[in-house]
Amino acid sequence: MSQNNRRIVLASRPVGAPTQENFRLEQVDIPQPQEGEMLLKAIYLSLDPYMRGRMSDSESYAEPVAIDEVMVGATVCRVEQSNHAQFEEGEWVLAYTGWQDYGISNGEGLVKLGKTPMNASYALGIMGMPGFTAYMGLLDIGAPKAGDTVVVAAATGPVGATVGQIAKLKGCKVVGVAGGEEKCRHAVDVLGFDVCLDHKADDFAAQLANACDQGIDVYFENVGGKVFDAVMPLLNTGARIPVCGLISQYNATSLPEGPDRMSALVATLLIKRIKMQGFIIFDDYAHRYDEFAAQMSQWLMEGKMQYKEHLVKGMDQTVDSFIGLLEGKNFGKLVIQLNDVD
Ligand SMILES: NC(=O)c1ccc[n+]([C@@H]2O[C@H](COP(=O)([O-])OP(=O)(O)OC[C@H]3O[C@@H](n4cnc5c(N)ncnc54)[C@H](OP(=O)(O)O)[C@@H]3O)[C@@H](O)[C@H]2O)c1
Repeated sequence: MSQNNRRIVLASRPVGAPTQENFRLEQVDIPQPQEGEMLLKAIYLSLDPYMRGRMSDSESYAEPVAIDEVMVGATVCRVEQSNHAQFEEGEWVLAYTGWQDYGISNGEGLVKLGKTPMNASYALGIMGMPGFTAYMGLLDIGAPKAGDTVVVAAATGPVGATVGQIAKLKGCKVVGVAGGEEKCRHAVDVLGFDVCLDHKADDFAAQLANACDQGIDVYFENVGGKVFDAVMPLLNTGARIPVCGLISQYNATSLPEGPDRMSALVATLLIKRIKMQGFIIFDDYAHRYDEFAAQMSQWLMEGKMQYKEHLVKGMDQTVDSFIGLLEGKNFGKLVIQLNDVD
């Protein structure tokens, strides 16, 4: 066992896009578990867009990471040493130990994954928080019906890809939005979307109008910005908008330029009786996790869901990979393999 715990802490708060200087890699002693505790070794670390929010101290639904504290994050870990009656050494767990090799846990909040889990890292993606987000946001707020047109951006990421595939299972027409030709091809050829459009195209709004010739019934909001601007005039009466994320704005330091669209948005909501509802997955839906897990496992077993992981090896790649996530450089669920599996 390595003698050190490598960890990445928040060194300063970013203004705009995060940079390497906002983080610091440290080496400290491996922590020792007390009675009733265990030492967890992180094998896989999930990198997610919400982490950008934790780097800022502006008001949010969760506390920010403090300066000099380890960056937060979900991990798939192996129990390295256990002084806990319910956990054995060698067991795998879903935990929240953050951007570091080792963490101490008293078992609270851990999800057991067994001794030899298949696809352990899926617990960070399609079988975990992002998959659950897609499932609840689409089905509970989006309420898709067969024949509806569903639009989702960040279409090849773990949330968007799952939203689109569930919408297809429900008999909808699915229009994805993604950055670049390769991602768009994947959304159609592998995920089974009807169409996928590149939001970087100059005539993106016209392409979207053309693809949604019957209007939009469900817009699953992942990105905001110009994608939402293009969606708004196409919304049908009675449309539903689960507001999941606004990644195009996470690095913004001021409101977007251009005319104020607020009154146009509110008028659209009123005239077309549109439901637009934000949600924070575990705050709002934790009680339905088991239902999601059972359904998603079944879909995966039946081959009804495709899942693409973007696996990067090595803690030294973590910061660059995270910065890239906010620029669309990931292709699939971004996971860092911090340590060897054996
Ligand atoms: N409400 C909740 O509880 C909850 C839970 C989980 C996730 N979320 C949100 O769900 C969204 C998707 O998360 P994810 O984990 O699936 O991320 P993801 O898709 O793996 O990664 C983010 C993607 O966003 C796209 N993007 C980045 N900047 C963009 C821009 N300016 N315009 C358009 N697209 C841009 C990029 O894809 P392209 O290259 O394809 O554009 C990038 O790959 C995020 O907004 C996240 O914050 C919310």
